[in-house]
Amino acid sequence: MININNETCIGCGACVAVCPDVLEMGEDGKARVKEGANMDAECVQAAKDSCPVQAITI
Ligand code: F3S
Repeated sequence: MININNETCIGCGACVAVCPDVLEMGEDGKARVKEGANMDAECVQAAKDSCPVQAITI
């Protein structure tokens, strides 16, 4: 399970660039988990590591 802290996210988009299968940018300019996304995708950990403000937890 991947979780994005909306308060912490600054909308840098790095996580979406790294893991577009699971993450997308929401209308609020912050990352969110895609509907029906495969949580087992290998890129989830990479997305977490890519975030400069540690907004992502697994
Ligand atoms: Fe936000 Fe971090 Fe992604 S700032 S857009 S969760 S890389």
